[in-house]
Amino acid sequence: MSTKSNSQTSGATSFVSVEGLTKRYRDDLPPVFENVSFTIEQGEFICVIGHSGCGKSTILNVLAGLERPSEGHVIVRNREISGPGLDRGVVFQNHALLPWMTVEGNIAFAVRSRYPDWTRERIIAHGARFIEMVGLKGAEKKKPSELSGGMKQRVGIARAFAIEPRMLLLDEPFGALDALTRGVIQDELLKICTATQQTVFMITHDVDEAILLSNKIMLMSNGPRARIAEIVVNTLPANRQRETMHHDPQFYRIRNYLVDFLVRRSKELSATHGDRPDTGRVAAAATRLVYPGLDDGAAAPVAVARAAGPNLKAIA
Ligand SMILES: Nc1ncnc2c1ncn2[C@@H]1O[C@H](COP(=O)(O)OP(=O)(O)OP(=O)(O)O)[C@@H](O)[C@H]1O
Ligand SMILES: [Mg+2]
Repeated sequence: MSTKSNSQTSGATSFVSVEGLTKRYRDDLPPVFENVSFTIEQGEFICVIGHSGCGKSTILNVLAGLERPSEGHVIVRNREISGPGLDRGVVFQNHALLPWMTVEGNIAFAVRSRYPDWTRERIIAHGARFIEMVGLKGAEKKKPSELSGGMKQRVGIARAFAIEPRMLLLDEPFGALDALTRGVIQDELLKICTATQQTVFMITHDVDEAILLSNKIMLMSNGPRARIAEIVVNTLPANRQRETMHHDPQFYRIRNYLVDFLVRRSKELSATHGDRPDTGRVAAAATRLVYPGLDDGAAAPVAVARAAGPNLKAIA
């Protein structure tokens, strides 16, 4: 196993730089997560995995500008974010559609805010591409109450894609989808990301999905006082395919590492950190980069990280 500390955490020129985030909902309770720092480069696809309640959605909401951290900052393209913006498209865990609008209307509403000068026809035609992409052609005139959970989730995905944001923030976007639809949309997501250098921050509970889509996987320890314990670098080739990636022995090394973290190590890490007295802000520590299955010195870690796919910057 090869490891390396995350030298990018200082990241003044990173696309996104998250510095020392702590979130405390109540002063008499320990923070949900503490001193979370990481960077995201343009074109990177980052997945976050961790147990329920560790604070994944809260971090995503802070990145979206919808939630304020108790401590710390989020810098996007050298500017601290102070609220939501159309440069960040969000797919929420709970759909968050406007209930009085149709599928088409929900998407048109978002497209109009992004492109206020466009004609109604252009807005509808643009939205239609994304409605088709998520397999909802024919359901344009339906309201959210007439849709299944998976269909609502797909409207949320189409809406986020339709505003063509610089960064997509996806909170378990495929959780409610059947396997077939999930596969189609994952493939579409990869295609779009590859073509547009899309930067993605995605929460998932599905380790196979994380290995297919991301080039780095952040592991969050259990809360309270959750933190980014490690960042696993996906060393599978960039052109991996869902149908064949399990033939690569490296797939199982990465998968076993992630599963082992979820079933065992996330708990152990929280036991050693979770019940500490509240001592104020802990000094920033560099997060370890991990290369499961690679012997120390077997490959230059930075070179591997750059080659690991889908490094969208490299292949776009
Ligand atoms: N508005 C709130 N007020 C108080 N506590 C909150 C609030 N929102 C979230 N929490 C708490 O913060 C913790 C983290 O919540 P969050 O939704 O970020 O977890 P998560 O990692 O996304 O979980 P899941 O995998 O179940 O979606 C939980 O313990 C939750 O109860
Ligand atoms: Mg969540």
